[in-house]
Amino acid sequence: MEVIVAEHAGFCFGVTKAVETVYDQIGAGKTGNIYTYGPIIHNETVVSDLEKKGVKVINSIEDLKKSDNFSNSEHNSGDQSKGTIVIRSHGVTRDVQAALEKTGLEIIDATCPFVKRIHKVVDTESSNGKRIIVVGSANHPEVEGIVSYANGPVYVIESPEEAQKFSEKKDLDYTLVSQTTFNKKKFQETVEIFKNNGYNINVVNTICNATDERQTEAEKIAAKADVMIVIGGASSSNSRKLYEICSKECDNTYFIQTLDDLHLDLHDDVKIVGITAGASTPKNIIEEVQNYVRTNF
Ligand code: F3S
Repeated sequence: MEVIVAEHAGFCFGVTKAVETVYDQIGAGKTGNIYTYGPIIHNETVVSDLEKKGVKVINSIEDLKKSDNFSNSEHNSGDQSKGTIVIRSHGVTRDVQAALEKTGLEIIDATCPFVKRIHKVVDTESSNGKRIIVVGSANHPEVEGIVSYANGPVYVIESPEEAQKFSEKKDLDYTLVSQTTFNKKKFQETVEIFKNNGYNINVVNTICNATDERQTEAEKIAAKADVMIVIGGASSSNSRKLYEICSKECDNTYFIQTLDDLHLDLHDDVKIVGITAGASTPKNIIEEVQNYVRTNF
């Protein structure tokens, strides 16, 4: 039996940078608390390791105010001993950014440059009078952040089906961007629908390279594999999309978070097992799964 592990599996550049940023802060011997705005990564093992090292996850400004040490009146705005907050690779909304700046915490922005680029496109294009269409999941933090940079009307389209139902004015100009991890085939389909329905859209394909390479490779491996394993966090959007892509090519596709979730029953006719992983899956988990498959079957 052959086991094929995708080369583009696991941490992407943006996630690596964000995680390293937090570990660097721990090592820097800061006096105040270290916070991350939302879990730094969709991976419970990494997040709980950081928690053990004292990193606190906050999900809102209110959480921050409730956190110990924070409301201590000795620490006022601009006082870095109050603590440090790391913004994760998804980025945050404009309002959250402004609110964080008011807290007086030291802000370390680990927003992925590919996400920052979308913020800039949306800001500029909407200031030039274009209506913005974001292709992605409306309640994903990255999309919430992108939407907040529009200085005018903005629409979120989650699927080609929704694009088909879109019925805004056709005599206006639109700029269309995408969530960085959107399924690229569905993105192309969505764009075609807008064009065929007569909308004047300027398309800026903002699916990041890491996602593009990961999806293309996963699809190729799944097409020839008898069994495909996708490793990723349950709430990781890019991992779920990988699962969706692989399932289309391979009926026996498994979606697992760690080796514990894998209950494989491989028949003799299984010749190729493929393995890929989302952007927030650490290398050691991929290796564990790979070793398990190689040694047990
Ligand atoms: Fe950045 Fe792409 Fe990763 S947008 S965080 S490199 S999936």
